Amino acid sequence: MSENDADQARWQRIERPLEGQVTSFDLKATLVLSTGKQIEISEQGVLVCYQGELRAWRNRCPHAGSPLDWNPGRFFTEEGDLLVCHTHGALFNPLSGDCLSGPCPRGLFPIEVKEERDEILVPLSADDGDAPDY
Ligand code: FES
Repeated sequence: MSENDADQARWQRIERPLEGQVTSFDLKATLVLSTGKQIEISEQGVLVCYQGELRAWRNRCPHAGSPLDWNPGRFFTEEGDLLVCHTHGALFNPLSGDCLSGPCPRGLFPIEVKEERDEILVPLSADDGDAPDY
């Protein structure tokens, strides 16, 4: 396998969401437990389209680790300008991931997005260097 093939094997193609919408995708991740033990888990990422820009985030709230959309598929506020965690109501800027309101100690966990020849690519695995611990 060439280096280019190996790099391509790290990515998955996903559908571009419409403006103000989200496309969810599966993601492998490493969870670091408080004991220091690491376990592999499956979780979701979300690709957000807002003001024509694409951003991908782990679907895990930085407050308590809940999926943002306990009400499946609902990520934006009613006004459509912020992402919301439905567990305790934290609000996030959809482009920067910054937490603007709520109990979160930090913003959303970013995922790389590539656009190549009209295709949207996101990684198959989360970056372990940014793995949240719970
Ligand atoms: S788990 Fe998201 S605000 Fe508490």
